[in-house]
Amino acid sequence: MNATTEVPGLVLAVAVLLSGAVASTHAAGPSTRGRDTSLAAQGKHIFRYDTFGDEAKWTDLLRMHEVIRTAVDPVTALSVGLKVDVDALPPAVRRGILDGTVDLRSPATTVALLKLDAVIGLKGTVEKVNGRDTLTRVGTTCALCHSTVDDSFADGIGKRLDGWPNRDLDPGKIIALSPAVQEPEKLLLRAWGPGMYDPRHNIDGLSKPVVIPPAYGLAGIHSITFTGDGADIKYWNRYVAVTQMGGLGTFEDSRLKLSVTNGTVDLVSSKLPALQAYQLSLLAPAAPAGSFDAAAAARGKAVFEGAGQCASCHTGSTFTDANARLHPPEDSMAEPEFPSYASRSATKRYRTTPLRGIWQHPPYFHDGSARTLEDVARTYNARRSLGLTDEQVADLAQYLQSL
Ligand code: HEC
Ligand code: HEC
Repeated sequence: MNATTEVPGLVLAVAVLLSGAVASTHAAGPSTRGRDTSLAAQGKHIFRYDTFGDEAKWTDLLRMHEVIRTAVDPVTALSVGLKVDVDALPPAVRRGILDGTVDLRSPATTVALLKLDAVIGLKGTVEKVNGRDTLTRVGTTCALCHSTVDDSFADGIGKRLDGWPNRDLDPGKIIALSPAVQEPEKLLLRAWGPGMYDPRHNIDGLSKPVVIPPAYGLAGIHSITFTGDGADIKYWNRYVAVTQMGGLGTFEDSRLKLSVTNGTVDLVSSKLPALQAYQLSLLAPAAPAGSFDAAAAARGKAVFEGAGQCASCHTGSTFTDANARLHPPEDSMAEPEFPSYASRSATKRYRTTPLRGIWQHPPYFHDGSARTLEDVARTYNARRSLGLTDEQVADLAQYLQSL
């Protein structure tokens, strides 16, 4: 049963829309710009909805479909940071949520939301079993960690904000719901906390999560991840899709002495160019009007470029020297840490983090150790013996808030 067999009129409408889209692409001329847009559009769909076949991990291995359909009502889902896409909800469902006739304390409602493709980053297959809608498979997408919503409908329910890290999401707590995970491992996963994930734990057995970073503002930066492991986004997308999400395909890196193949087909490689194009199209969000003191920010810019010495590493319009060099671990204000995140990476070094849109995603540094931008400025002042006054520290924080 699907829309194609039910509504032939809709199919016709879609066909007309598609031919219109092709015509307008041609009208825009044979420039690469027109082609890039459609590649990015494919990438958007992949970013939001593609699991790369990772149901093999989330369903067959972790049996998350059983937990979700029996124990995860929408209130619980929202409490572990999952978000709901309001644009996927039909008017009747929206009304029902507002007037309380949609039961947010029933796992069946979660299944209904998954059937609507409304839970961001989760992709469910819902089938009738004994006349009842039943979640039979579930997988994850990139949007799970790298999208959130604007809360325009209710807390956790709103319009998608792709590329914005979901710092409410508690991946460790979610994975710990799996009946296939043993008790000591559950304790460890639950300790990670919201907004944190360790993308190397299942590789090296160590546990020291990092903050989930934005997937926006990366155009022109040819060094990806906190440690600059890849020259392009594709490198890391393959890493995550295969080794973390459990997508079907292969990841290999001799620097990490790592070679992982899931399944016998490759559902990852062909999607990477479009996925990368979409991420490169995501701009860092501008600071909201009135969210910072403009006069203080102007003074803070002078501190950033002068006495603070920040611009010696945070260079150019993206505020990073990532294309020129990586830094020894001691250049990170989060070091020394045990185990050192750099020591677990391919480069053993840190990339200077790009700073556009930084107002949007506290806490800061790869381990989230600086709660606010004031904390960041204070930490640099002390650790690098900059001799900044309290006013200069406050001004610098306002400048960072404005980027
Ligand atoms: C379970 C959460 C999770 C999922 C799912 C996930 N990521 Fe990430 N992502 C992370 C974390 C944590 C990092 C930080 C790792 C690092 O930099 O060492 C990261 C890093 C990144 C970066 C690097 C950003 C930068 O500043 O260089 C990009 C780009 C990215 N992810 C895109 C994706 C894409 C595309 C997908 C889907 C294929 C995906 N991620 C799936 C958690 C996740
Ligand atoms: C020697 C090079 C260097 C200098 C100088 C430097 N930074 Fe950094 N900065 C880095 C590196 C490397 C990181 C990544 C650290 C980490 O996450 O472990 C970073 C991270 C940051 C972050 C965290 C970004 C995020 O998304 O979490 C902020 C904010 C920041 N720097 C601001 C500043 C300010 C303000 C100054 C001047 C007072 C400054 N930096 C001076 C190299 C530098």
